Amino acid sequence: MERILVIGGARALGAAVARRAAKDGYDVVVGARDLAAAEATARGIGATAVRIDLQDESTIAAAAERLKDGVDHIVTTGSAPHDVPLPELDRDELLAAFTAKVAGPMLVAKHFAPLLRPTGAMVMFSGVVGWRPGPGSLVKGVTNGAVDYAVRHLAAELAPVRVNAVSPGVVDSGAWDRLGDRKTALLRKSAAGTFVGRHGETDDVVDAVMWLLGAGFVSGETIHVEGGARHSYA
Ligand SMILES: NC(=O)c1ccc[n+]([C@@H]2O[C@H](COP(=O)([O-])OP(=O)(O)OC[C@H]3O[C@@H](n4cnc5c(N)ncnc54)[C@H](OP(=O)(O)O)[C@@H]3O)[C@@H](O)[C@H]2O)c1
Repeated sequence: MERILVIGGARALGAAVARRAAKDGYDVVVGARDLAAAEATARGIGATAVRIDLQDESTIAAAAERLKDGVDHIVTTGSAPHDVPLPELDRDELLAAFTAKVAGPMLVAKHFAPLLRPTGAMVMFSGVVGWRPGPGSLVKGVTNGAVDYAVRHLAAELAPVRVNAVSPGVVDSGAWDRLGDRKTALLRKSAAGTFVGRHGETDDVVDAVMWLLGAGFVSGETIHVEGGARHSYA
């Protein structure tokens, strides 16, 4: 049975990947910075849980020690958004955003490299904003763009393990529920900015992640799952 570690796996897209992987017969390990949340998600799907905080390398090293009998796949969805106008840029939050998306997964690669089985894959998460600059999106845009570069360089480092990214458009993953009533407007606006006339659903992204796990001739790529949004300026 192939083992998959899903970091950020306690909720939203990470939990959806963990759920699908469990359904598809993988040995799933849910990783999250809140161990109780990871355990709650893991319990519901017959998985195990491990604490991983992408901002804290010692937790990454400890998780690798715990899983030292081997891992096939790693999916990392971590994100620490800092979507502010340029004058409000905060150095610590800026670095935290880079750590969640880019530096943290690089340290995951460092600690898990000896454990990854050669037919395995690592999937990182970018996002459409990386290709659609706009005021207030500086940090999200640059960190998402950095993921696109990180996967090709990590693919070289971890070869033959494949390293790729998924770059979603706006997806109703649960993450936008915090907007309350404004969520509907956001989803409608994002749908208008695609070629396919709709916002993304969780399964759109999970399907792409699961395909990448088995796509043995794909490495160093970013797969855009956003209905053409980066080309459409509607
Ligand atoms: N949903 C969208 O519309 C959309 C669009 C473009 C790109 N994306 C990208 O897709 C990915 C997943 O997004 P989402 O929709 O599932 O919602 P999200 O709220 O962006 O999810 C972020 C995930 O990262 C985890 N996380 C944050 N800091 C962490 C840390 N220090 N250590 C470990 N985990 C950490 C969160 O766990 P906690 O429960 O601990 O907070 C959560 O599981 C993100 O990278 C996001 O940028 C999403």
